Amino acid sequence: MKKICVVGTGYVGLVTGTCFADMGNHVTCLDVDPVRIDHLNQGKMPIYEPGLEQTVNQNVRAGRLFFTTDYAAALAEAEFAFIAVGTPSGNDGEADLQYVRAAAEAIADIVDHPIIVINKSTVPVGTGDWVADVIQRRRNGKPLEFSVVSNPEFLREGSAVSDFMSPDRVVLGSLEREAAEKVAELYRPLRCTVMITDLRTAEMIKYASNAFLATRISFINEIANMCEELGADVREVALGMGYDKRIGHAFLDAGLGWGGSCFPKDVKALEHMAVLHGTQPQLLQAVMEINRNQRRRAVMKLRKALGNLNETTIGVLGLSFKPNTDDIREAAAIEIIHLLQNEGAHVRAYDPQAMENASKVMHQTVLCENPYEVAEGADALILVTEWNEFKQLDFTHLKEIMKRPVILDGRNLWDPETIRGFGFTYMGIGRGNGGLKDFE
Ligand code: NAD
Ligand code: UGA
Repeated sequence: MKKICVVGTGYVGLVTGTCFADMGNHVTCLDVDPVRIDHLNQGKMPIYEPGLEQTVNQNVRAGRLFFTTDYAAALAEAEFAFIAVGTPSGNDGEADLQYVRAAAEAIADIVDHPIIVINKSTVPVGTGDWVADVIQRRRNGKPLEFSVVSNPEFLREGSAVSDFMSPDRVVLGSLEREAAEKVAELYRPLRCTVMITDLRTAEMIKYASNAFLATRISFINEIANMCEELGADVREVALGMGYDKRIGHAFLDAGLGWGGSCFPKDVKALEHMAVLHGTQPQLLQAVMEINRNQRRRAVMKLRKALGNLNETTIGVLGLSFKPNTDDIREAAAIEIIHLLQNEGAHVRAYDPQAMENASKVMHQTVLCENPYEVAEGADALILVTEWNEFKQLDFTHLKEIMKRPVILDGRNLWDPETIRGFGFTYMGIGRGNGGLKDFE
């Protein structure tokens, strides 16, 4: 049993702390947000994440998992301090390190025993060295035995707990091998591949991984757009490509582009790093541009189908940036709704989990109780997030209550022929004549 402090109780911090507690460690999770900590102490989760609530509550009951806003209490005797605070985009696309700095300074102010500081937040290459520097300077000559380890996190929202517990790999970067090996010990119960490298390489592995995944998606979206013009089906294309072991099937689902709290900010931050250091990130720039176009193209398809969007009513199914999360950060829905409203459309929307978050930012959108309320009187429906509950809708009923039977399936969730069989005009993404061609 090790004593661990985790700073930040968001998707990464809360999951990391909970999973390490579940492996038998004594974990205190700390956050500067008192409401969040109050809720956690009452067993209420600040985020929707399958399996999380149960695991948190089990470990709290077992006396292994604690929540506090008090740095001194959280760090007392801790051998490991994980930093898992946000690193949002700054004004120029760079990663904003203010929260990482605040966490590092708080550790420097409070700790007087040997400690390993582990960066789990996604941070620009060189931040590990910078964190060591921040701590040194803050100590102002007062000695502290500490090491910095980079331990980027690869979990996905919507499957965060299971991703953490069954990682494809754990990456650890440090200039001090012994410190990295101590962190590796924490992961031993997971029996996974642990790669130990230097600090900067570990930091780059994280950005390169996210940027590569985003690139795959933009690539398949570009192919999808060609498929629409050329009469091919992108789903079959991706399937056929994926059988090649060098390519694989994952992350080749064409759709409305990638969103979320990480891909957009991380691709931007990597581009910023490249430009700052004099290299030309042409591929990354194209990857971002294709992603922006994918949203615009969806609106263009609706415009073509309806003639004009002004004074139309568009129903939106799904608001979260992907299924199984309530996170709407950089969700495709936000941008698409914004574009629709700019063209004078009235938007009605529903999401199984993200309604509370949506209500804080979508003031001009009518938020509905279910998909049928969304469809009532709508000129078109657009599926933005492929939640399971949208798989089996009553299309006969939908057709009766909609003003015009037009469906844009932004995630290729439904079978085009089945939907057409109900009397709808069906448009998908990259599905042969299910694209723009229908209206030419
Ligand atoms: P989040 O926004 O969900 O949570 C961050 C938490 O940190 C908040 O609760 C905030 O109150 C707290 N915080 C901020 N400053 C603090 C401080 N000084 N002391 C204590 N707490 C503080 O963030 P997240 O989505 O968990 O992401 C955290 C980091 O992990 C980011 O760098 C992100 O890129 C990376 N990451 C995220 C995911 C993901 O799926 N969300 C996956 C891998 C990596
Ligand atoms: C992503 C990575 O997958 C994680 O490995 C990483 O840890 C995380 O970012 C992070 O750094 O925060 P996440 O954003 O939670 O995880 O979700 P993904 O499943 O990767 O989906 C991201 C976006 O890509 C979603 O909008 C999704 O709809 C879209 N996507 C995904 C596609 O359009 N097509 C695909 O084939 C896959």
